[in-house]
Amino acid sequence: MFFSSLDFLKVTETAALACSRWVGKGDRKGADQAACEAMRHVLGTMDIDGTVVIGEGERDEAPMLYIGEKVGTGKGDEVQIAVDPLEGTNLCANGTPNSIAVLAATVKGQGKLMHAPDCYMDKIVVGKDCIGIIDITLPAKVNARLIAKALEKDIESLTIGILERDRHQNLINEIRETGARVHLVPDGDLSVAIAALDPDSGVDALFGIGGAPEGVLSAAAVQCFGGEMQARLVFANSEQEERAAKMMNGDPNRVLHTEDLASGKVIFAATGVTTGDLLKGVRFKRSSAYTESIIMNSGTGTIRRIETCYNRIPEVEEKKCFKLDLESFSIAS
Ligand code: FBP
Repeated sequence: MFFSSLDFLKVTETAALACSRWVGKGDRKGADQAACEAMRHVLGTMDIDGTVVIGEGERDEAPMLYIGEKVGTGKGDEVQIAVDPLEGTNLCANGTPNSIAVLAATVKGQGKLMHAPDCYMDKIVVGKDCIGIIDITLPAKVNARLIAKALEKDIESLTIGILERDRHQNLINEIRETGARVHLVPDGDLSVAIAALDPDSGVDALFGIGGAPEGVLSAAAVQCFGGEMQARLVFANSEQEERAAKMMNGDPNRVLHTEDLASGKVIFAATGVTTGDLLKGVRFKRSSAYTESIIMNSGTGTIRRIETCYNRIPEVEEKKCFKLDLESFSIAS
């Protein structure tokens, strides 16, 4: 292996720095494009034979970091890459909490990331103490009670994170009827999934339907952090379902477990764009920029929180290609 987890950290940091220029500007597309360009540029400098398995969409709909795109110099290991250069595009555009730049990676043969279709996914994510007790085929209220029992807390003290969407109204009502608390987020179920893994976050579980690509990235975090995820794909039409059946080589409606989505030795990196529950966002002080990231490696069993100070902030070049100044890369903690 010719790369370390920290190489991937540079990828998410650079993406976060790039789109931090767009925080609060009301332009989600501009922010996403800046993050994509930066991420793609740094990946391009890495000695890997990388293939994007989760990206910005299919080749015909995404100009860069599309599914199947080759990244890296092509010189090193074959690496599967899952990216969400800017998770929470609206959050960034509105300057609201919890937008992050995210990447997961695994070397072919040492781990696997599911090549998930671009559809929705129903998800439950819980931390280590709840391994083996959830069942996504059971009603949400049953899972909520099982989780409270496993965590040895009253149902009234249980907090379930859910995306605020009309499609979740019944789910929200069902959880509230149990007495549990609902933590509603406007966007960014990946951040909630990571929060559910962390016993200190105040969020005990993620329930509900979000993007399938975010689901695979969530599973990579579960694989590194410890915990459990169960999921089912949700299709908007029969075309999506047929496509998924081909991609998954079998029943596209089956329950997916963590190992189906992300298995083996996986690296997960996320850098905060706007300050949220998980990470501080990009902050500027005089001519320096500060980032906070989490980088986890299931192969080495490490979870690092890293604050980086960029004394020289990388500038966007004329061609809109992001220039990374590695000289200024320093680990403060
Ligand atoms: P984007 O960063 O692509 O805007 O996704 C944000 C997000 O909230 C995800 O966290 C979530 O999985 C998905 O959108 C939910 O999709 P929808 O907004 O269509 O309900």
